[in-house]
Amino acid sequence: MQIPDITIAVDGYSSTGKSTFARLIAEKFGFLYLDSGAMYRGVTLYAQENGLISPDNVIDPALEKALETLDLHFGQGTVLYMGERNIEKLIRTMEVSAQVSPIATVPYVRQYVDRRLHEFSAAGRVVMDGRDIGTTVFPNAEIKVFMTARPEVRAQRRFDELAAKGQNPVFEEVLKNLEERDYIDSHREASPLRRAADSFELNNSDMGLTEEIAWVEGLIRGKFGLLDAPEEIPGIGADKTGTV
Ligand code: DC
Repeated sequence: MQIPDITIAVDGYSSTGKSTFARLIAEKFGFLYLDSGAMYRGVTLYAQENGLISPDNVIDPALEKALETLDLHFGQGTVLYMGERNIEKLIRTMEVSAQVSPIATVPYVRQYVDRRLHEFSAAGRVVMDGRDIGTTVFPNAEIKVFMTARPEVRAQRRFDELAAKGQNPVFEEVLKNLEERDYIDSHREASPLRRAADSFELNNSDMGLTEEIAWVEGLIRGKFGLLDAPEEIPGIGADKTGTV
């Protein structure tokens, strides 16, 4: 299916599979994929490496000035760079995960990330995932998806990921952590996680990826009135002398 150069916003709760879904859309339809959460993680890493955030999450106001020259950008694929340095692995550590939520509540940090995201997507044809893409970053996105799933299903997915990485997760703790993050993300003052009024909800509790892609394809077809090329119907047109 050929789809036009649009912007697709994918928002939702933690561990609903936003990035897997968005990456697949990018691959299938030839879009640029941008992971906005990676940018918040990059700012967090910068603050940690430069002593601008204390262990109890007090943020040094000097961070605001530092952001004026901080060069975070995506390299090949979706790999995040800080200047010349590939920081993709560093931003996925537990240390960064533990402090990214407080960093993401700071309005000037959000402005910095939003500005960079707009620069990266200037050429269009972008799918971006996050918490406030359809509400704040791209309020005019043509397609907005809001992803949800039952908390136990999300916790089980996260649990399986951690177990596959050789960690020893406890299901109840994973579930509690998810619920806490949902709470912080949806109750902060600056750009809280909430569903855009014109978004479509995708509850993938009982869905696989193939079904999710079929669902979004249906959404895009409906929105743009796209149809497949009509199929040849055997027999029609073959015999012009047929009876009426
Ligand atoms: O998607 P993720 O787990 O990598 O996101 C990391 C953090 O960044 C998460 O705590 C929420 C925050 N975030 C945000 O506030 N707004 C976004 N658009 C994306 C992420």
